[in-house]
Amino acid sequence: MIPAPGGELLRAPLFHTPRNPFREDKALESYTDGGLLIRAGRVAGCGDYASLREAHPDAAEVDLRGGFILPGFVDTHIHFPQLRVLGGLGLSLLDWLEHSALPEEARMADPLHACRVARGFVRALAAHGTTTALVFGAHFAPATAALFEAGEAAGLRIVAGQVLSDRLLLPDLHQTPDRAYRECSSLIQSFHRRGQSLYAVTPRFAFSASEAMLEVCQTLLREHEGLLFQTHLNEDLQEMAEVARLFPWAADYLAVYERFGLSRSGAVMAHNVHATDFELDRLAAGGAAVAHCPCSNAALGSGLFPLRRHINAGVRCALGTDVGGGTGFGLLKEGLQAYMLQRIAPDGMLLDAGHLLYLATLAGAEALGLSGETGDFGPGKSADFVYLRPPEDSPLAAVLEREQSPERILAAIFTLAGAESVREVRVGGAVVYRSAAAEEQ
Ligand code: GUN
Ligand code: ZN
Repeated sequence: MIPAPGGELLRAPLFHTPRNPFREDKALESYTDGGLLIRAGRVAGCGDYASLREAHPDAAEVDLRGGFILPGFVDTHIHFPQLRVLGGLGLSLLDWLEHSALPEEARMADPLHACRVARGFVRALAAHGTTTALVFGAHFAPATAALFEAGEAAGLRIVAGQVLSDRLLLPDLHQTPDRAYRECSSLIQSFHRRGQSLYAVTPRFAFSASEAMLEVCQTLLREHEGLLFQTHLNEDLQEMAEVARLFPWAADYLAVYERFGLSRSGAVMAHNVHATDFELDRLAAGGAAVAHCPCSNAALGSGLFPLRRHINAGVRCALGTDVGGGTGFGLLKEGLQAYMLQRIAPDGMLLDAGHLLYLATLAGAEALGLSGETGDFGPGKSADFVYLRPPEDSPLAAVLEREQSPERILAAIFTLAGAESVREVRVGGAVVYRSAAAEEQ
């Protein structure tokens, strides 16, 4: 199809959060009869359909009424090799790693298996409306390369890295620090800033990374510009007790990463359920973000996330699904779970639909340093969006038939929409997913 010279004007109710609702009022912007103008893969306008139509009479119109346009979701914590262990309920973190996740991750030594899983993994991301993801790759370089290749082929924005460990866990998954340095350097050479891909240095967690391995991470970050960093922090009390034993010189868990310069802007720490106030202050000062994974925190029994303390300390938070400790790929579900757990946490925050949308979109882009590129429909950003259209006769369709207020419509979407409601997903204006129902039209 030859693109219209005036671009494409999509017409549908539209929601986005161009501001941070934890810091500013009226962060949620919505247009009941909305328009999104796309030119050359970029957002050229967002607002009321009628005004955009008048200002851009040459744009080709795409009538999407009956559905809703949201910015593409940003998942800030997910493990690619764990797709096939989703649903392993009943264990706490260290037992779940030993009995469920790690044996599956060892299978990533087979590059053919890794390619198959990688294709399914990126398909699942797109099918749930996720356009950008910060991903734990595999412990094996070829499998991690397969993830980057699959992400690129699918047209998604993938930030990922080879997972590094050199002690405890499963010996099959270990690298030496020297080998880690060589393999990561080569992956960075191949994939960092190739197309939409970025590389993230990824020690699994302090529990399984020696000081020499953390030093390798520091060296890689020093040697290459624009790398991201990801790891786990303060997730589970038993894990934290082991980390304290392994690093007796560290005042707390965060101090281990700080010693090697790893808590910094562009770093995303997953979980941080059991943070001290002192750690939160240091995270905020250093500019690292936290990936809040409420489904995983509940499924593994890790604990209730202290969101209010993070926000009050000024720590950036976004959402992560944490597949496979979590319960699936859906960031709408993750937002709902964040809402639910804050509702019952002793010092929980009452979140509204605007908070949930922000956490699932722009907050993630900010955590990854990509807010100039994605996360909302600001002018010039990449046209990354999800078009939701609930199936006819679904409970969501019934609710939306009577619901008029934008906030309540968005709340109903977070409550009831899953992958079955995702019709089309685009990154940079290009289609990366169309549902069977969309294909039938
Ligand atoms: N800590 C270290 N590895 C993992 C993992 O795979 N999942 C979770 N939830 N926590 C971890
Ligand atoms: Zn994780």
